[in-house]
Amino acid sequence: EQLRQAVTAMPKAELHIHIEGSLEPELIFALAERNGVRLAYPSVDALRQAYAFKDLQSFLDIYYAGASVLLQEQDFYDMTAAFLERCERDNVRHAEIFFDPQTHTARGVAMETVVSGIHRACQDSPVSATLIMCFLRHLSEEDALATLDAALPHRDKLIGVGLDSSEVGHPPEKFARVFARCRDLGLHLVAHAGEEGPPAYIASALDVLKVERLDHGVRILEDAALTARVAREGIALTVCPLSNTKLRVFDQMRDHNLVQLLDAGLLATVNSDDPAYFGGYMNDNFIAVFESLPLTLAHAKTLARNSFAASFLPAEQKRRFL
Ligand code: HPA
Ligand code: ZN
Repeated sequence: EQLRQAVTAMPKAELHIHIEGSLEPELIFALAERNGVRLAYPSVDALRQAYAFKDLQSFLDIYYAGASVLLQEQDFYDMTAAFLERCERDNVRHAEIFFDPQTHTARGVAMETVVSGIHRACQDSPVSATLIMCFLRHLSEEDALATLDAALPHRDKLIGVGLDSSEVGHPPEKFARVFARCRDLGLHLVAHAGEEGPPAYIASALDVLKVERLDHGVRILEDAALTARVAREGIALTVCPLSNTKLRVFDQMRDHNLVQLLDAGLLATVNSDDPAYFGGYMNDNFIAVFESLPLTLAHAKTLARNSFAASFLPAEQKRRFL
């Protein structure tokens, strides 16, 4: 109980949050009404009932359907503002927010609408917030390159790029050219790797894409040499415990490998991924792992420290938080 108090009160950084995954069912229905979008579910409760996933793909199908209510700049603003208010309650002082522009531009929403709405909410919040644009890996690299071009007028509003959506069958090397261009632009690079995909995808995210941080990465322990290398190089893993159990990466929280990741010397962090879909925000994730795993106050401090250390904040701002 004391540990729970300490863990929830600690200042933290959130490094793995898909903003479209923060869209709560109530807001989905409110935006559907505002925009005259017809939903496949009759009520908030019916939609929430559908949140029973068997793997990543079964989640993605419903997550993309939920995002279909986002049309106007104000919709993107309202979604982001609601998330940043939750950050304040959870003592999240800094958030590096993923967004998926292709989910919206494919429906005819302009890149400008997406980026401006999300960015304006970040500017209006007391929480430090920066943006990472993600490419959808189930689409082609040509589509990703066109998306990067469309985002170039907003280069100043992005700190980095990432890679998300269906992992297996879409290895990192599929996006070698677009990541090389992003690197030349001075953008920070991250990618989802080793969530459902094998350790080989983690290796190619590092060696081909040259990512600075691994999103999920929990399957890394299947490769001891790779684990040792990532620990030595200080490359962080943005672990998402509630996501991992909801998407059956681990059957139950007591099976989660967070303790082993830390014991292996990896710079692991705790994050929420898609909090509206997976049953909780930052503190819910911390509470869930501390309830189910043999974690101590020392681990809590390490995880909070890791979250700022692994962030893309400039060194002097990191020092303020650490
Ligand atoms: N994995 C891949 N793509 C995603 C995820 C995830 O956990 N969440 C939202 N898009
Ligand atoms: Zn994710």
